[in-house]
Amino acid sequence: MEQYVIKGGNPLVGEVEIGGAKNAALAILAAAIMTDEMVYIENLPDVRDINVLLEAIKEIGAVVERVSPTEVKITGSTISDISVEYEYIKKIRASYYLLGALLGKYKSAEVPLPGGCNIGSRPIDQHLKGFRALGASVDILHGAVVAKAENLTGKHIFLDMVSVGATINIMMAAAMATGNTIIENAAREPHVVDVANFLNSMGASIKGAGTDVIRIQGVEKLHGTTYSIIPDQIEAGTFMCAAAATRGDIMVKNVIPKHLEATTAKLEEIGCQVEEFDDAVRVVANKRLTRTHVKTMPYPGYPTDMQPQFAVALTLAEGTSIVTESIFENRFKYADELSRMGANIKVEGNTAIIDGVEKLTGARVSAPDLRAGAALVIAGLAAGAVTGILHTVFNIPAILSGILTQISLWSINLRIMSGKSNLPLLNSETIISFFVSRSGSST
Ligand code: EPU
Repeated sequence: MEQYVIKGGNPLVGEVEIGGAKNAALAILAAAIMTDEMVYIENLPDVRDINVLLEAIKEIGAVVERVSPTEVKITGSTISDISVEYEYIKKIRASYYLLGALLGKYKSAEVPLPGGCNIGSRPIDQHLKGFRALGASVDILHGAVVAKAENLTGKHIFLDMVSVGATINIMMAAAMATGNTIIENAAREPHVVDVANFLNSMGASIKGAGTDVIRIQGVEKLHGTTYSIIPDQIEAGTFMCAAAATRGDIMVKNVIPKHLEATTAKLEEIGCQVEEFDDAVRVVANKRLTRTHVKTMPYPGYPTDMQPQFAVALTLAEGTSIVTESIFENRFKYADELSRMGANIKVEGNTAIIDGVEKLTGARVSAPDLRAGAALVIAGLAAGAVTGILHTVFNIPAILSGILTQISLWSINLRIMSGKSNLPLLNSETIISFFVSRSGSST
């Protein structure tokens, strides 16, 4: 059990350096086992999900050497098992990227089905449809996806919906298929491009990543490489929203501003000043924010992973805002928690209607998932003269800890305590408790 104490009510002013993109790194680490040669990966985010995936990769027999918190060497030549344990899938859904990687390299993979999670049911039918199209037999046996092929053969594949995971998983398997594959209606997210660039640096031939048609010419073998992961657009966007909600001034460094355009545009719409530099953005909020509407969409639309954080800024904006979630069916679980902090937010179906209030106050709240947790931290920081406690009944995803640690460096009154379940309340009127109550897989 960890507990977090936050004293908010001050504008966040400072500089922050953004780490590598978690969702790109998860796929890249899985893809790294597709060669027998050593792969050196840099700018790795030092977060829990990454550490769990590295354990899963080690467990199937690869050699994993953590050179530093942000660098790892992986050698896949010693892999002895194509079957991944449920223990890893349970902790991180993205272990399913080992399906595409193992199937591509060994033409055989066995990975437990991830099941639903706190943000929605999240089927993987499109991943499986893609593997079948490439010629694999795919069965669900005892809760696991068992995929096998004599040989994978390139195919023209149309995805029924835009899916980041399916695009990446199919791209990995097709990279080592015989002949050409075309993925239509492909996801265009920056991490899809990063995975394609990584595979290409290993000798794959993938063109069109970043558009909705990806063309892959299969190759027989991939080779070792050294690769640096792109910066995390969601971590960056979270700090941008924190600047907005606290009327702060944050220089967010080590970013690709193009990847942040949807967030930048929305923050400007509600009255923030956003200045772009080559590899940084500065967000200044020096007056009350104003209302807007936002709808989550696949990239380049507004990201679902930034929806809760932006909603917090809107709870403090003048007027009525509407937030529509079009990717996942269950991503407003944090709304009732914000209401407990004084926000005026009502959810109807996939829409949240927010009437802005002047300020938030402390309350005990519960964070159902990683991005909701980040949003509640922003709310705690924005809440007037409030101290907060964050309890976790499972290891809070390290990315959130990273955000909290960074904030504590800015002398915001924040304490992080581990191993205690019943800390004395500091002042009953000014306590926020965040309970992260979920123990399922994260992303
Ligand atoms: N979908 C299907 N069938 C499929 C695949 C997807 O119906 O076979 C649906 C999903 O249920 C969802 C939509 O398609 O409604 C889009 O899902 P997508 O496959 O794009 O999401 P994902 O690959 O499971 C990744 C990120 C999520 C992020 C989404 C959307 C990783 C490891 N996870 O999930 O990240 O929200 O893309 O951008 O890359 C997070 O980081 O907090 C997180 C949840």
